[in-house]
Amino acid sequence: MCGIIGYTGKRNAAKIIFQGLKRLEYRGYDSCGLALVEKGKIILNKQAGPIAKLEPFIAGQKVFFSTGIGHTRWATHGLANRINAHPHFDCQKKIALAHNGIIENYFTLKKELIKKGHSFRSQTDSEVVAHLVEEFFRQTKDLEGAFQKAITKLQGSFAFVLISVYAPGKIFIARKDSPLIVGLGEEENFVASDIPAFLPFTHRVVYLEEGESGVIDAKKIRFFGRRRRLRSETVSFRSIDAVKGRWRHFMLKEIYEQPEVIERISSFYVKGKKIHFPQLGISQSFLKKVKKIYIVACGTAYHAGLAAKYLKEGLSQIPLEVEVSSEFRYRQIKFSSHDLVISISQSGETADTLAAVRLAKVSGVKTITICNVMGSSLVRESDGFINTLAGPEVGVASTKAYTAQLACLFLFFLYFSSLRQETVSVQRQKFIKEFQQIPRLQREFLRLNFIKIKRLAKAFSKYGCFLFLGRGINYPLALEGALKLKEISYIPAEGYPAGEMKHGPIALIDEYKGVVCIITQGRLYEKMFSNLEEIKSRQGKILALATQGDRTIKNLTPAVIFLPSLQEYLSIFFSAIALQLFAYFVAYNLGRSIDKPRNLAKSVTVE
Ligand code: G6P
Repeated sequence: MCGIIGYTGKRNAAKIIFQGLKRLEYRGYDSCGLALVEKGKIILNKQAGPIAKLEPFIAGQKVFFSTGIGHTRWATHGLANRINAHPHFDCQKKIALAHNGIIENYFTLKKELIKKGHSFRSQTDSEVVAHLVEEFFRQTKDLEGAFQKAITKLQGSFAFVLISVYAPGKIFIARKDSPLIVGLGEEENFVASDIPAFLPFTHRVVYLEEGESGVIDAKKIRFFGRRRRLRSETVSFRSIDAVKGRWRHFMLKEIYEQPEVIERISSFYVKGKKIHFPQLGISQSFLKKVKKIYIVACGTAYHAGLAAKYLKEGLSQIPLEVEVSSEFRYRQIKFSSHDLVISISQSGETADTLAAVRLAKVSGVKTITICNVMGSSLVRESDGFINTLAGPEVGVASTKAYTAQLACLFLFFLYFSSLRQETVSVQRQKFIKEFQQIPRLQREFLRLNFIKIKRLAKAFSKYGCFLFLGRGINYPLALEGALKLKEISYIPAEGYPAGEMKHGPIALIDEYKGVVCIITQGRLYEKMFSNLEEIKSRQGKILALATQGDRTIKNLTPAVIFLPSLQEYLSIFFSAIALQLFAYFVAYNLGRSIDKPRNLAKSVTVE
């Protein structure tokens, strides 16, 4: 939710910031802007709309600036227009600030500052901080002190980068509940809300701790307040991973990366006949005693959590509750010391999931995060970590991170059940062997079905509303299929357990509605079939995802995508791809902004 970046050093700051913003655009794309400081002056350029709008300014920029900040916005307060774009100036245009988060007490602060003579240009909550720093600087002429004092007055969540003519070459930084990472270079330093922003220049990073603030220049980084040892880490993301290359969209590229991701997961976590989690951070003796597991997550990650309910069936008897983080964080749960909370998150920064984990921690409950970003807040704050190893995911609609989450959950419950002796070795070997076939079969599936799904999506893109139906493990897949479609095509779509269809959704069905159903061979096949007969008799247009070799399905609909004939629980690794591609092509046919759907952002760092 909003991307911020700062650069100071030997290169042309304008270009570095522009390139960095392009790599952060998935965090928000309502508006953008940058501010550059040199020789007593700040130059500002802001635009409504995507980062590309800054291009003429960058191309025309003849003066060399060594220091600057930039911002790409997901609007919270105020319209997505140019005035509300960041960075924001103080009254004198001597201070410029970019912010990610929400200043909850901005209204009170703004009223007080207006009384003191400050005049505001935007409707944002963020601008108040530039004026607050100005106000304290006016009193003391100490910018560092003013910045620190301003922070103490703020309620809410924030990550800031601030530059000023009073301290050229420096960038003031602070974070609370929003991520901020410093990238260390030679004679240059970077700061950004996410690592890909500066990945082409450095892999050496320092994560700001919660509540930390400081200042960077081209040579050093200094934190305010308590002394802390500067511990830098080297990140392993290859910058190439975050590049679209020959692909039309990141989403398509990421859909195609799924076999490679499952392969990576398999070779990292399966050693010979054994599953191991090197960073689990929780002792085996504790796992053996766990009495209940809670899974918390948002969006697509929540759907992965729901699938875990079914994946663990037949493996472990452990009671499992799966809940969206924004509900979980406000519940009054009586935890026991033998509970375990597992969070699932692609970004590791989702505000509600982070809050849910913090709730568990203050209650003394052990936490594991299944996460895609090493060094993210969730990873740093959880006791244990299972890395989903999907590599940077840029498309706002999550694809490869989702199947990576499913794969990690499956392996985790296999491991968990073996520790607790709920499964026997022969059974586990069989599961592992089948799991290891997935990448090869996924590649084949993509090769055989790409054109077919494209054609079907074209035919179905005329329908104005969709139902996605499934039973058993296919039910959470149906939820995810509906989410993918609505996220990127803007067509209303609902996921339902097929058995619930008669309790409402069937009222929607007529010849103008699309029904996507996942009807794999399993113990609920016949029940599902009858549900589909009911839809057919009401002229709903059915697209079926069925198991290869199913001869009866054609009696129901000519539109069928066949999934490999495997154990039903493994079919999710193929139905997920089919549903993602279907949504992709429907959105493509409708000319939608696939990688950056309207109103969405990849990393939701506000409540
Ligand atoms: C946003 C994204 C989704 C994602 C959800 C949770 O809504 O658009 O793709 O599933 O946040 O994000 P997380 O990073 O916690 O998985």
